[in-house]
Amino acid sequence: MRLSLLTSLCLTAIGALSQQTPGTYTPAPPPPPGLTFLYTCYAICDNRLYTTQGPRGLRTTIPIIGGNFTGPRLRGQILDVGADWGVTDPQTGIFSADTRYNFLTDDGANIFLQTSGPAQPDGSLHLRGVFETGDKNYYWLNNIVAVGVLNAISSTNTTFTLRIDMWHLASDWNSTTFYNGSTYPAQASRGALGAQGPATAVEGAFGVLPTPEVAWFADAFEDIV
Ligand SMILES: *[C@@H]1O[C@H](CO)[C@@H](O)[C@H](O)[C@H]1NC(C)=O
Ligand SMILES: *[C@@H]1O[C@H](CO)[C@@H](O)[C@H](O)[C@H]1NC(C)=O
Ligand SMILES: *[C@@H]1O[C@H](CO)[C@@H](O)[C@H](O)[C@H]1NC(C)=O
Ligand SMILES: *[C@@H]1O[C@H](CO)[C@@H](O)[C@H](O)[C@H]1NC(C)=O
Repeated sequence: MRLSLLTSLCLTAIGALSQQTPGTYTPAPPPPPGLTFLYTCYAICDNRLYTTQGPRGLRTTIPIIGGNFTGPRLRGQILDVGADWGVTDPQTGIFSADTRYNFLTDDGANIFLQTSGPAQPDGSLHLRGVFETGDKNYYWLNNIVAVGVLNAISSTNTTFTLRIDMWHLASDWNSTTFYNGSTYPAQASRGALGAQGPATAVEGAFGVLPTPEVAWFADAFEDIV
């Protein structure tokens, strides 16, 4: 008796599952989480060091030698210590970035970042961004989930410049309260950053730059990989 009740419960469950065939999902999807703008970054890359066929595909090493980033809450320079160890999928030819580099903010904080993500049909790359810092004012960066869009915008004989626009999920942390009860950045210093006029600075810095050229980018990456 108990067994048959179990059996019929199971059958009911299986019946309910089998009604959810692909394409017949009826509940309203949850609202998507919003995004908060983090920064626009211009990364200057040197010509590739080398490309080699390895166990995970065609690995290309591209030094990241400088540049800058500007956003409402952080701005500064890219240090000459990083690179993109991107890989090209041998089954599709799709290039995926895999970077590690360092930001130095205008107020002296070191931020280590890692980005990765594949080329997209429109020629841009879509990135995941992961940040790591010990600086208390930027500690919140350790606890955000960031995504970005990368386009190549210009080149010289020996370098090329990438533009990376980065956002993070809107409900992520934007400050840090430590066990000692102190919250950073303090309300006052957040105000100070705002008073410097980050929005204007962003427009001023980027207004003169050309719109990212998708075609150019495709060419550039053809050269790289
Ligand atoms: C950031 O770098 C870009 C590209 O090199 C440059 O055009 C822009 O003026 C720089 N912005 C700042 C704030 O240094
Ligand atoms: C860049 O390359 C072009 C064509 O190969 C050459 O004419 C030019 O002199 C090079 N410029 C520099 C700064 O090396
Ligand atoms: C920080 O996050 C809180 C809580 O999510 C939000 O109310 C506030 O507007 C955010 N502040 C900034 C400067 O983004
Ligand atoms: C609170 O703790 C943080 C993280 O350890 C530290 O950076 C900060 O200086 C401390 N603040 C005070 C007022 O002790």
